[in-house]
Order: sequence, then structure tokens, then C-alpha cells
Amino acid sequence: MSSYLPVQHAPKTLIHVKDLHKSFNGNHVLRGISLDVHEKEVMCIIGISGCGKSTLLRCISGLETSDAGEIHLEDDNFTMVFQYSALFDSLSVYENVGFSLLEEPDESTGTTRRFQNLPEAEVRRIVEEKLRLVGLDGIEDKFPNELSGGMQKRVSFARAIVSDPKIILYDEPTAGLDPIASTVIEDYILKLRDELEAASVVVTHQHSTIHRAADRICLLHEGRVQWIGTPQELERTDNPYARQFANASLEGPLTD
Ligand SMILES: Nc1ncnc2c1ncn2[C@@H]1O[C@H](COP(=O)(O)OP(=O)(O)O)[C@@H](O)[C@H]1O
Ligand SMILES: [Mg+2]
Repeated sequence: MSSYLPVQHAPKTLIHVKDLHKSFNGNHVLRGISLDVHEKEVMCIIGISGCGKSTLLRCISGLETSDAGEIHLEDDNFTMVFQYSALFDSLSVYENVGFSLLEEPDESTGTTRRFQNLPEAEVRRIVEEKLRLVGLDGIEDKFPNELSGGMQKRVSFARAIVSDPKIILYDEPTAGLDPIASTVIEDYILKLRDELEAASVVVTHQHSTIHRAADRICLLHEGRVQWIGTPQELERTDNPYARQFANASLEGPLTD
């Protein structure tokens, strides 16, 4: 008798961070962070305000240079979604999303050029496809100030994924949104994980995001990873840092 077992492939690690250090003028913010994030995984980074979450994200993206340690991205097609949508108010949704694909004037020759030499129709097709992915088809001609905060956020997602990135870094994607708009955003984070098979890192301090969107959670405190695990493990752990965070308690080791 023969039996067929499905072959289990180990998930590919797309982000490796090892013993990362970063100081600002003697303020030693990251004190040896090690972290791996796999394809098709949403890793939420949590911790109190000022603990270095954005700094870690900026180091991973290369916006900030680290002082010591290693960062290795398996795929150089990565993108960052900033804390505020950072859309250009004077550009339409189409121009915002297609920004990196559209022409820009070349002052030296007085002509225009396209970053990727894509025909206009192809840019339009890509923009429409990305807007559809975040549930916003048909709003190409609107301007950012005509959209709700949650819709602006989704436009910023569409812009971030024009190149089909394999690594997506989100800084507080639900900041300033009401609970319903937050839920919509959390579900799109999962949708992009599945559609692009991307490794996602989501900085957040919102419990809803952790419970709805996280595959794993990494808790930073005093520059170190204090706890790492799944949302189910967060409910059961007796790690005092994780317990305090899970219960949003004032009593515990998480203090400024
Ligand atoms: N460019 C910078 N220059 C100086 N200090 C900074 C800079 N960026 C962040 N910091 C400091 O690093 C610490 C961590 O900041 P940040 O990573 O923004 O925290 P979080 O995102 O967890 O709230 C804070 O004390 C902050 O003031
Ligand atoms: Mg931050």
C-alpha cells in the first residue's frame, strides 16, 4: 500500500535581521535585534511609543543606516507604506498610484521620459489593477481630499504595490482610523499577503490589528526583542512583557 503525503516546503525567509544596533546621539535605541520574517507571513512589531519600532522598519528599508548587525533581504523588490498616507494632494489618484511609472520632465533635454518606458495604456492597466486589489476601482480621477482617511490609506497601499513587491513594510497602517476602517485595512494587509505572497512587517500598537492580521508578533522593549510568538501564544504566555501588553495593563515591566 502506498500513501501520498503532501510535500511540506519550509517557508522561505525573506527578511533576516541579526543583532541590529542603532543609536541617535548616544540614545541607544536598538540594542541587538534579531528577527526573521518568512514569505506569506505578517509579522506585527509591537511595543510602547518610542521603543524603536519605526527605527527598526526604517533600518530594514534602508532609509536609516544601522550602526552594527546584519540586514539581509532575499528580494530587492520591497516597499514601505508610511504612517501617514503621504499622498500628493495636487495629483489625482491615478497619478498618485502610477507615480513611479509615469513620465517626468528631463530638464537637460527638454523632453519627458518614463521611468520604466511603459506605454500610457499599460500604466493605466497596472493602476486600475492595483486599485481593484484594494477595493477602489473607478476612483482614478478623484483627488485625495475627496476621499476618507481609510480610502486614502488604501490608495497608499495601491501605490506601494505597483511593482508587485515581495516584502511590504507598514508603519502604523491603522493609525487615526476608526475601528471599522481599521478592520478593512487589516483585511487588505492579509489580502496583499496572499495575492503577492509577500513577507509583511506591520508596526502597530492596535490590538485589533494584532488579532486580525498577525501571523506572528514581535514585542520590542528597551531595544531588544522581549517576546515573539503567534496571537494564540500571546493569550497563553507567562512572559511578563507579553502579558502586560496582551492585557493593556498599567502594572508590569513595560514602562518608559
Ligand atoms: N532621526 C532621529 N534622530 C534622533 N532621534 C531619533 C530619530 N528617530 C528616532 N529617534 C528616537 O529614537 C527613539 C525611537 O523612535 P521610534 O523608532 O520613532 O519609536 P516608535 O516608532 O516605537 O514610537 C525615540 O526616542 C526617538 O526620539
Ligand atoms: Mg513609530
